[in-house]
Amino acid sequence: MEKILVHSFKGGTGKTTVAVNIANILSNENKVLLIENDFMMPSFFDIFKREPNAYFNDYLNGKANFGDVIEHEVKPNLDIVLTNKKFDPNEKVMSSDQEWFLSILKNMIEDFKSLEKDYNFIIFDTPPGWHLIVVNLIALSNKAILLLRPNSYEVNGTKIMLEILYKRAKPISSWNVYALFNQVPEVEMKENLDNWVGELEREGIKFVGQISCSCNIAYEMAHNSKIFPLKHEFNQALQRALNKLLAVN
Ligand SMILES: Nc1ncnc2c1ncn2[C@@H]1O[C@H](COP(=O)(O)OP(=O)(O)O)[C@@H](O)[C@H]1O
Ligand SMILES: [Mg+2]
Repeated sequence: MEKILVHSFKGGTGKTTVAVNIANILSNENKVLLIENDFMMPSFFDIFKREPNAYFNDYLNGKANFGDVIEHEVKPNLDIVLTNKKFDPNEKVMSSDQEWFLSILKNMIEDFKSLEKDYNFIIFDTPPGWHLIVVNLIALSNKAILLLRPNSYEVNGTKIMLEILYKRAKPISSWNVYALFNQVPEVEMKENLDNWVGELEREGIKFVGQISCSCNIAYEMAHNSKIFPLKHEFNQALQRALNKLLAVN
């Protein structure tokens, strides 16, 4: 079972769009579980139009079993777990420190082990930046996709995040961390991109591709589904990135 974290230093880089569409592409031939982790800015309630009885928050807070938070077959082969769209600043997942997140990690590891037989892929959509849940998800995952828009402060922010969060949670050499540029403008940026890729590779992460910025995507997301057809240019770019990423064990 592959467990893939989709994360970024900044918000709005396309994590949710990428996580949802990767899950959809992979569910063509595999059993996939897609888990939302953005407790502050949830999106799955709107994308999948589901109102579950229990949410990932409830599982993490110790108020539900893992089995109770899974929404089965939102599409063939695709199960999902949602975060609660109703913000509660008092719940543990919102208000706890590192010690509490570490205390729930052991149970999480055991529960995810028990999913091995049910799924080929687990995809984690995340909140941006430093949220402590990301430390637990780094511990659980065997691959990560770090999304960045092509500008120096996202590259530099990503480098700082690698230093402070990733390298402290787990050595970069012990798993596969990939950089995927999103919202790349249709202008000549090759030199900039090559330089940024070089800087990121020196931190031990691998470049896995780029997705163009497309006003059509923004329009489609406003008017249609956030899950694109497999032939969509966004998914064609994602498929190329996935081919590289899945070629490595
Ligand atoms: N390649 C792209 N071209 C144009 N717009 C994009 C692209 N990728 C994402 N977006 C837009 O960026 C916004 C943020 O995407 P989202 O997936 O919600 O980001 P995040 O989960 O990182 O906050 C969405 O409105 C989406 O339409
Ligand atoms: Mg998101």
